[in-house]
Amino acid sequence: MSAVPVPQLHYRPMRATDLQEVARLEKTLYEFPWSLGNFRDSLNAGYDCWVACEGETVIGYAVLMIALDEAHLLNIAIASASQRRGTGRAFLKKILGVAKAAGCLIVYLEVRPSNVAARHLYRTSGFQQIAIRPNYYPSVAGREDALFLGLTLR
Ligand SMILES: CC(C)(COP(=O)(O)OP(=O)(O)OC[C@H]1O[C@@H](n2cnc3c(N)ncnc32)[C@H](O)[C@@H]1OP(=O)(O)O)[C@@H](O)C(=O)NCCC(=O)NCCS
Repeated sequence: MSAVPVPQLHYRPMRATDLQEVARLEKTLYEFPWSLGNFRDSLNAGYDCWVACEGETVIGYAVLMIALDEAHLLNIAIASASQRRGTGRAFLKKILGVAKAAGCLIVYLEVRPSNVAARHLYRTSGFQQIAIRPNYYPSVAGREDALFLGLTLR
């Protein structure tokens, strides 16, 4: 019996035709998800929107807003079934490479204090806390602060 080949992970810019699937994944990954319209607006605004794929299947997505030499990572996510295999770290590295190639000197992002997985990923990727943004996110208990992180690109 021949082994089924594992599709290789690759990245490409997000297309309008990805929006349905990206919004569907987003709903499974966040308690307070972006809408399809939020992703469409990001594409239309010219933000760097990327998808991570295995074969034809979208398993992750990221939205990066670049302004001059600063980038803001607005969203990055990996489908639940594809998590904890190094994909998030590899995708983040790709996105940081996009920012660097665009001439960015620093990448900022916000993360919930309760998001253990993302905080670990960012900390071990070199991000440092810059500030706390009080009551930044909606939460079931009302609002939740955001940790504001930054990474200097060298
Ligand atoms: C954060 C996220 C992108 C990580 O994706 P992933 O593919 O699981 O990441 P990786 O497999 O590359 O793991 C990265 C690191 O995080 C750790 N990690 C992943 N999930 C974890 C969890 N639930 N708890 C603790 N650590 C976790 C891994 O062990 C790994 O650390 P290590 O290399 O030191 O062992 C993913 O959990 C996700 O999409 N979450 C929902 C969306 C989200 O919260 N995005 C971030 C918004 S700020």
